[in-house]
Amino acid sequence: MSELEPDARQDAFATRAVHAGLTPDPSFGSVIPAIHQTSTYAQPRPGEFAGDYDYARSANPTRAALEAALGELEGGRAVTFASGLAAEHAVITVTCETGSHVVLPADLYGGTYRLLDKVMSRWGLAYDLVDQTDLAALERVVRDDTRLIWVESPTNPLLHAVDIEGVIARRQNALVAVDNTFATPANQRPLELGVDFVVHSTTKYLGGHSDVVGGVAITRSNDFYDRLRFVQNAVGAVPGPLDCFLVHRGLRTLHLRMEAHARSAAAVVELLRATPDVHDVRWPGFSGMVSFRHPRAGDIAARTRLFTLAESLGGVESLIEVPQAMTHQSVEGSAAAVPPDLVRLSCGIEDPGDLVADLQQALVADLQQALAGS
Ligand SMILES: Cc1ncc(COP(=O)(O)O)c(C=O)c1O
Repeated sequence: MSELEPDARQDAFATRAVHAGLTPDPSFGSVIPAIHQTSTYAQPRPGEFAGDYDYARSANPTRAALEAALGELEGGRAVTFASGLAAEHAVITVTCETGSHVVLPADLYGGTYRLLDKVMSRWGLAYDLVDQTDLAALERVVRDDTRLIWVESPTNPLLHAVDIEGVIARRQNALVAVDNTFATPANQRPLELGVDFVVHSTTKYLGGHSDVVGGVAITRSNDFYDRLRFVQNAVGAVPGPLDCFLVHRGLRTLHLRMEAHARSAAAVVELLRATPDVHDVRWPGFSGMVSFRHPRAGDIAARTRLFTLAESLGGVESLIEVPQAMTHQSVEGSAAAVPPDLVRLSCGIEDPGDLVADLQQALVADLQQALAGS
């Protein structure tokens, strides 16, 4: 199977993040790609058109610029979609068929589980959930007919780090896809470790400003790239030009934002680890994702001022949520169910001291109310 040639350039990640996918516009020299808000392209004669620009579901220059950028940052060829879940669906579509077996992580984004359990299983896909931090357990569930091992690292919401190379060593005949949404290519580039696909919800850190829903699938294989492009056009879950522009703009500050997110998370973790009633504090050591458990999780989440109580993550502003009641309702009652006392934080890039003070006031107010009630 033919593969993308390795990139000869040696620029550091920060440099690549700023320049990725930016080629000055040939018409006017604009440094930033235009938003090609069009559904179609004029043809001088029937069937004659520039590149693959005949209809905007098939191709759009703003989308092509974003795809070039995402490919450069992850080290593969990127195909974008209208959401992270649409990108996941495309990877499953190009790798699996009726009767295929998929291995999922036992801790995972609820929507991924729902896609397999409620949609793809109706088309004859079987799946097993396994704790992928236990490589021996993973080895036991990989079968001859396992077509795809789906990895999240860190996982959502429990933030387990998975040994991606360990998974590859145990894949047998299966392809490996990594959902890199929580890590981002600033911290982890799974294609360089040998996986077949990287997937992102670009809604999150890549867009970075909570103003877009989008997704991407990236591969080094030219064959799978062609198949993903085919599904992108045939299914039609394509991102709009403005959304592509916004994600591309977000990428240019990804490295700076990820450092700031990590600074905020480190400060918050220090507070949480020293707070009574808080236990099982988790942070992968990078990114802004933190989780902890607290007997009155819902009350804490309702009392913060700077941490907005909302689903999603990865934007510049801090968010707090209770996964069991919010993002992970679809895994309730399954082997991937999350504990009800779990709180998930997406630490933003505000002043870390202000974030700590906000959480502290929520935790103190909670303690006072609990004591008053006892
Ligand atoms: C880890 C992860 N993967 C995929 C998705 C799905 O992305 P989207 O909401 O853009 O469809 C999410 C959404 O929260 C997520 O957290």
